[in-house]
Amino acid sequence: MTGGISRLQCIACGKTYDPLEVRYRCDDCGDLLEVVHDLARLRREFPDLRDRFDARLGEPRLPYVSGVWRYHEMILPDLPAAQIVSKPEGNTNLYRSAKLSRAFGLENLYLKHEGENPTLSFKDRGMTAGVSWAVRLGMKTVACASTGDTSASMAAYAAQVEGMQGVVFLPHNKISPEQLAQAIGYGAKTLALETDFDGCMRLVREVCARHPIYLLNSMNSFRIEGQKAIGLETLQQLRWRAPDWFVVPVGNAGNISALGKGLREARELGLIDRLPRLAAVQAAAADPFYRSWRGGFREKITLTAGPTLASAIRIGAPVSHDKAARVIREFDGVAEEATEEELMDAKAAADRGGVAVCPNSGVALAGLRKLRAANVIKADDTVVVILTAHGVKFSQIGVDYHTGRLPGLAAASPNPPIVLPPDLAAIAAALGF
Ligand code: F0G
Repeated sequence: MTGGISRLQCIACGKTYDPLEVRYRCDDCGDLLEVVHDLARLRREFPDLRDRFDARLGEPRLPYVSGVWRYHEMILPDLPAAQIVSKPEGNTNLYRSAKLSRAFGLENLYLKHEGENPTLSFKDRGMTAGVSWAVRLGMKTVACASTGDTSASMAAYAAQVEGMQGVVFLPHNKISPEQLAQAIGYGAKTLALETDFDGCMRLVREVCARHPIYLLNSMNSFRIEGQKAIGLETLQQLRWRAPDWFVVPVGNAGNISALGKGLREARELGLIDRLPRLAAVQAAAADPFYRSWRGGFREKITLTAGPTLASAIRIGAPVSHDKAARVIREFDGVAEEATEEELMDAKAAADRGGVAVCPNSGVALAGLRKLRAANVIKADDTVVVILTAHGVKFSQIGVDYHTGRLPGLAAASPNPPIVLPPDLAAIAAALGF
């Protein structure tokens, strides 16, 4: 592919940087950077992007078998295919059933299940791009702070590269055992720090500034490019018709920023002819972005995030706030928040529909319910909810919910296991015969 399509640019002052420089923020104003593609050139060179992407759907080999690299021209067009580190990832199901739609008061509800990625979360889409870029830059050590999913994904992609070491900064005892098992199993140097996610984030930034370590949190603009593919793949699954809404759980705000960037570019490149609206949903215990939105984004609110079952989005100072605020404005977006009971009941409702949802995604589903009840989202709107991780990454929470072991929280329709003696009569009685 021809070189020089993309540049690194400050989102605030527009200063540009060489994409082959290791850099996460603007020297002049300190704001976030983004990868800007020359869309006019992409349009000229690839006037048939939709057909190209569709033709790759049956491709069995890397890179195009990947649900990220199928869209190579829109992800990192200057990255040679030979440098791509892919598992592959993506190709996740877009679930739809009458039962699920009904449970959320809609006619057309789609659940984009990013928990079906190789490490069971949406992070793999960004990580394939971020780790590939690390290889391109010649970086041997990669690091991230994490609430558990970014670390699992980074560890797995680093493990795939000969001679690369992953280092993860985790808030001690604040991630699920399944998530922890992933990071240590894939061989990442795992630092469990006695602080929260925001503390880990501050420290990893310092460490990466002092040592030759490549930072792979979402303030890494190359990771965001891979993350965009959730939206692109959803559009392709909907035959390039934009839904009315995307509903997304928000923590550090990288995912919603990526989604917005990808959708904006998809429209500018003629893949879709209108933009959907976006809804950003947070847990009430960790809702700085929601609060900022309530205040019209006049102020960037940060806070100390409280405990929530949605532990992956327990974040008080979202690093990508500025990017996310921009996409919410641009996409006529809204924000919402959900209590612990609301998020667990919404998770349980989707689980009952046969789709295993994590508590963080339960936040998005609960937000959908509230926005639907307020008629912000209409019954006949086509809605896509991004389910960001798989329910089995948080299995204890599911068991505790159904067995009444979550203090102060009553399940709407509990389904605990029925403990019985190994006896036919007892079984028949339990089954109501
Ligand atoms: N859902 C899940 C399952 C997550 O793991 C995260 C973020 C989010 C939603 C929110 O996405 O941060 O882009 O707004 N997890 C990060 C991590 C923070 O370290 O795994 P965001």
